[in-house]
Amino acid sequence: MDMHDIRPGVNAPVLTLAQASDADIPLIMEIERSPGYPALVGSYYADEHYRRMAAPTCTYLLARSNGEPVGFAVIRRDDDGMGTAQLHRIAVSPPGQGHGAAFLREICRWVFEEHDIDRLWLDLLASNTRAAHLYQALGFVEEGILRASLRTAEGRHDLVLMSLLREDWRFRKVKLRP
Ligand SMILES: CC(C)(COP(=O)(O)OP(=O)(O)OC[C@H]1O[C@@H](n2cnc3c(N)ncnc32)[C@H](O)[C@@H]1OP(=O)(O)O)[C@@H](O)C(=O)NCCC(=O)NCCS
Repeated sequence: MDMHDIRPGVNAPVLTLAQASDADIPLIMEIERSPGYPALVGSYYADEHYRRMAAPTCTYLLARSNGEPVGFAVIRRDDDGMGTAQLHRIAVSPPGQGHGAAFLREICRWVFEEHDIDRLWLDLLASNTRAAHLYQALGFVEEGILRASLRTAEGRHDLVLMSLLREDWRFRKVKLRP
């Protein structure tokens, strides 16, 4: 189990990062089904989470603040040996309290300081301006549009492709340290 303390400020709550287990799946499902979230982050049934959690390329991470779970993320390592990974999913609840920034910062540490991953990429809906703001603040760079990549009941949607490289992270983390 990987675990770190994040102490963004003197009065800020302590956020811990841990690898999630099967027992956390109901909680993960609850977070991804928070009001307004399914359209932004997607949601799976339990069986799909169990299957993905068991995959060697997938890591589920859980964030806790003062012991209470506040978010989860899924990192999916690309299986082509190129040292790249996708931030496949991230969600925190409640939003807007700084948990997302602290969680993402610690995810980046986990990816670049503990794993042989040089590029962390993600995609998001252009309408998800809150997430885009967060990614940009951490140094993610927009690379282009993945046309018609997402299929929903409403039709197909473009996705914005973003990435953070190990060099970007080294440069940015100096500014991010409390
Ligand atoms: C995206 C998410 C992880 C961000 O976490 P969070 O805890 O809500 O974010 P924080 O409170 O750490 O920071 C939010 C930042 O976005 C800004 N923000 C809030 N709403 C915004 C909006 N509509 N547009 C642009 N910026 C916005 C805030 O001002 C804050 O910026 P600041 O730190 O510079 O002041 C969280 O909101 C979430 O889980 N959303 C639903 C799922 C989701 O969209 N996941 C990402 C899929 S790609």
